[in-house]
Amino acid sequence: MTKAALAGLATTFCVETASAEQIDVGLLLPFSGVYAALGNDIEAGFRLGLDTFGAETDATFEVIAEDTEVKPPVALAKARKLMLQDNVDVMVGIVSSGVLGAVRDMVDGAGVPLIVANAGNDEATGVDCSPYITRISFSNGQVNRPMGTWLAGQGVEKVYTLAPDYAAGRQMIGGFVETFEAAGGEIVGQEFTPFQQTQDFGPYLAQAKASGADAVYVFYAGGEAISFVKQYDSFGLKGELPLYGSGFLTSPLYVAAEGPAAEGVIAAGHYVPTIDNEANAAFVQAFEAENDRLPSEFAVHGYDAARALIEATATGAADRESLAQALREVSFGGPRGQLSIDPATNNIVQPIHVYETVAGEDGLTQKVLATLPAEADPANGCEMN
Ligand code: PHB
Repeated sequence: MTKAALAGLATTFCVETASAEQIDVGLLLPFSGVYAALGNDIEAGFRLGLDTFGAETDATFEVIAEDTEVKPPVALAKARKLMLQDNVDVMVGIVSSGVLGAVRDMVDGAGVPLIVANAGNDEATGVDCSPYITRISFSNGQVNRPMGTWLAGQGVEKVYTLAPDYAAGRQMIGGFVETFEAAGGEIVGQEFTPFQQTQDFGPYLAQAKASGADAVYVFYAGGEAISFVKQYDSFGLKGELPLYGSGFLTSPLYVAAEGPAAEGVIAAGHYVPTIDNEANAAFVQAFEAENDRLPSEFAVHGYDAARALIEATATGAADRESLAQALREVSFGGPRGQLSIDPATNNIVQPIHVYETVAGEDGLTQKVLATLPAEADPANGCEMN
């Protein structure tokens, strides 16, 4: 059965004991559409996290998975079903910033805790923050702001930017531009490509080439990242205009599909499997054993979301209200290093790694060039109650 066919089926984890609380979890992820691979990886990480850390709590977890299809109206209907019909205690997931923006008011109004396991929408931990929304993944600004400063420090002066035309594309590029310009850089051109509709990037690449830029900076993810990186190379731009981006551009999840076109691309992200610490070594080994591939940043979001949920239930939290509160206070050392949640916004605080995709012994791998210190996001209008 495909993951999409499995969506909607409930599965129970952990052996139930007489006194154990059962926590019903709604997993809201794309199992189809341009981010389907991301949804599958988050789910794989989440299930591994439940298996790995489940013994730390008496609670048991029943997981009901629903496919958002990366479509805000579909996601809204699925979230409503999980919250009202299935009566879940907590929701985990959401990949697209557009989907997160669409379900935010419903989650907040219903008082159902949501652990965001990907979508970086800055507003969800900014002006639209909520005590029920805790993000364990990243925010769009958090990943891209450090890269503006870093790139200007490398002597790059003129940049052309590209990203899909939706909330994440605009916010990721916005974060980069803010710090790049503050460091003296100049944006010589900028385009936003129709999201989930652009197959031919040629016209945009021609504009980038003619712009007088020293380099190109982009955000693309999933299927769009694979097409973009391949077309950038076949267009002959790579030798001429170095390609930079947010880390998702050359994610370990699909860098093999990009192939040699990804070699030499430099990107900034919050997780690469080459991070050198004990928790990461254990995670990489367990994930590889189970899935026969290296984990990505998406897998780590799922894994850490499961761990956060387990930590919250281990404090005795079991209903929506107490779970929401406990989730805001989790902190642990994981594959990414020490993680905490900023009480001012409910967003994760974590370092950012600048990495280059290079050829390794077993194919493409991630060479960390710099680690930029963890910084909490500005509150961006968040007034947490
Ligand atoms: C988002 O829409 O927030 C998003 C999607 C895919 C990514 C990163 C962010 O890889």
